Amino acid sequence: MAKTIGVGVIGMGWMGELHSRSYTQVPIRFHEAVGQPKLVVCADEFEHRAEHAQRLYGFEKRTTDWRAVVDDPSVDVINLTTPNHLHVEIAEAVAQAGKHLLCEKPVGRSPQETARIARSVEEAGIISHVGFNYRWIPVLQYTKQLIDDGRIGAITHYRGGFLEGYAANPHAMLTWRFLKDIAGMGVLGDMMSHSLDMAHMLIGPISEVVAQKETFILDRPQSVAGEGTHFDIREDGPRAQVENEDYVSALLRFENGARGTMEACRVVVGEKIALMFQINGRSGAFHWHLERQNELEFYEMDDKDASNDGYRHLLSGPQMPFHSNFNPAEGLQISYDDTKIIEAHQFLEAVAEGRPSEPGLPEALRVAEVAAAMQRSWESGSWEKVTPISQ
Ligand SMILES: NC(=O)c1ccc[n+]([C@@H]2O[C@H](COP(=O)([O-])OP(=O)(O)OC[C@H]3O[C@@H](n4cnc5c(N)ncnc54)[C@H](O)[C@@H]3O)[C@@H](O)[C@H]2O)c1
Repeated sequence: MAKTIGVGVIGMGWMGELHSRSYTQVPIRFHEAVGQPKLVVCADEFEHRAEHAQRLYGFEKRTTDWRAVVDDPSVDVINLTTPNHLHVEIAEAVAQAGKHLLCEKPVGRSPQETARIARSVEEAGIISHVGFNYRWIPVLQYTKQLIDDGRIGAITHYRGGFLEGYAANPHAMLTWRFLKDIAGMGVLGDMMSHSLDMAHMLIGPISEVVAQKETFILDRPQSVAGEGTHFDIREDGPRAQVENEDYVSALLRFENGARGTMEACRVVVGEKIALMFQINGRSGAFHWHLERQNELEFYEMDDKDASNDGYRHLLSGPQMPFHSNFNPAEGLQISYDDTKIIEAHQFLEAVAEGRPSEPGLPEALRVAEVAAAMQRSWESGSWEKVTPISQ
């Protein structure tokens, strides 16, 4: 039987709007869903953003005070899409109120903040979910099935990356993402967290890393809070210092013995949104790239007939998880926004059924532990083991 779940969304920027839109789509895309969202209240510190979101997505109420969302008795789950510096305070208030939490990645500004939120979520016994939405691309869920079915054998290599040029222009604005007080980590939190979650989901935990970082563009034009997006360009006005890393790369050792590499950058020239992986096992391999997110290159070794040796090109289709929630045809495209609808659905189903949701804070904590090891490696210049985070 369907269960209505009252939703409050805090932070009505890019993600807040996308999450809100996604909740409205859950009943349309997932007809059998048990968890049915009711958009109760949206909050933004800027009234015009809250008003805009209320009008577009049909929230019953709006506010400029996030505490009013947490305190609202008709709100069962809170969707946290503010910049990272507010995540600890709001997530702890949500946990104390005994409500459930969908928090955007990287969760905390630092691995330690993520660990702190993970602990309060665990102590309160609430259900959590984290916005690692790329996981939900049907082709990736299918890749996971093929790996688990042993189709490429034991994994030997993993090469992951997330290369974007959104800040490649030196006149790209200094939004909160470049500031330590608000974002915390640079690409290690913002982009590599997605790659790490993907690697963990596909082949399992990373045990050891050696990493490097760089900031290639040292200052940028200042932005105005409440205006525009982090894709905006401005050639005049005052500039200020970039405070976190543009680039991170690492060598990886996985618990299962696989070896790997990972690279993330926000200022690379040429690449638009190169989230990708190449995975090799003892009897097969995969290539995948977000710019062709509905396509998978799949290689299976055939000892009996090597005459047509090579990768097969698979397209997203109804045989893959979630594809048919969007369309019935093989090869028709699933979009980035669709992955957020799947994410909202997964979270609401877990809440409706009173069970843990994945990826939740435990999975975000695994990612944060790898990030902490990379940060230690920046200092030591050596291999660092992935260990629990001490607070
Ligand atoms: N999963 C993904 O693919 C993805 C993509 C982009 C961003 N994110 C994450 O989502 C979060 C938000 O990013 P964004 O790009 O939407 O940022 P954004 O700057 O577009 O939006 C943030 C919003 O929060 C509001 N806000 C700030 N302080 C507030 C307060 N005290 N109370 C209420 N609202 C407040 C801002 O006014 C703004 O509207 C970040 O944690 C980011 O890392 C995830």
